[in-house]
Amino acid sequence: MIFESHAHYDDEKFDKDRDLLIQELLSGRICTIMNVGVSIESTKTTIALAEKYAQVYAAAGVHPSDVDELNEENWLWLKKQTEHPKVAAVGEIGLDYYWEKDKTAQEKQKYWFMRQMELARECSLPVIIHSRDAAEDTMKIMQSIHAEEIAGVVHCYSYSPEMAKEFVKMGYYIGVGGVVTFKNAKKLKETAEQIPLTRILLETDAPYMAPEPYRGKRNDSGKLIFVAEKIAELKGVSVEEVEETTRKNAQELFRIEPFK
Ligand code: NI
Repeated sequence: MIFESHAHYDDEKFDKDRDLLIQELLSGRICTIMNVGVSIESTKTTIALAEKYAQVYAAAGVHPSDVDELNEENWLWLKKQTEHPKVAAVGEIGLDYYWEKDKTAQEKQKYWFMRQMELARECSLPVIIHSRDAAEDTMKIMQSIHAEEIAGVVHCYSYSPEMAKEFVKMGYYIGVGGVVTFKNAKKLKETAEQIPLTRILLETDAPYMAPEPYRGKRNDSGKLIFVAEKIAELKGVSVEEVEETTRKNAQELFRIEPFK
């Protein structure tokens, strides 16, 4: 069984067939889905999905590209959501300098990244970190706030294998998705090879990041099998071992009991 550690099924790209698709996935090979909030609004829709399906859990958080919407009023609301029984993580939070080149705006991302990390510490929840083109600042912030005391995953990992080992040293998991199946994904393939399987989580980031042979199409957790196969090939282990180990990793990180 596969634990989907990062999806956005509340995204409008699933408006036409959301329920059908989720039911199909959960009655098949997918045991659990972590649906991840990226904004105040999507934290609401994520929690609603988690309330509807026993096997769907929610991450509450605001993505670096959406931190402009945060203020003291909705911060209190966000904080309150961490008490919800189906909220199992704070995320996705972090830094994204690919889409944000402006220094002042980057400072704002750092501020809310740190605050959301502190929130996770306060409520003893793991974090789901989004970090793009911001390796150095992400690491600096994590070191300065002693992120090793907070559990978490660096999702959609895009940096070097060396950097991945630094995150692993801090106790973090590395989220590996469809990109690992791309021909030109040399760094991610090396990362998957070099870090232990006990530190890898399977993720789609659905509807985005579909693996080969579906690259560019709408992604869903059913396609995680292609990611599991590629990791198995890179590590010289069976697909079953990849599925089982990454499932246990996610259950341990998010403290979720197995369903089947
Ligand atoms: Ni995401």
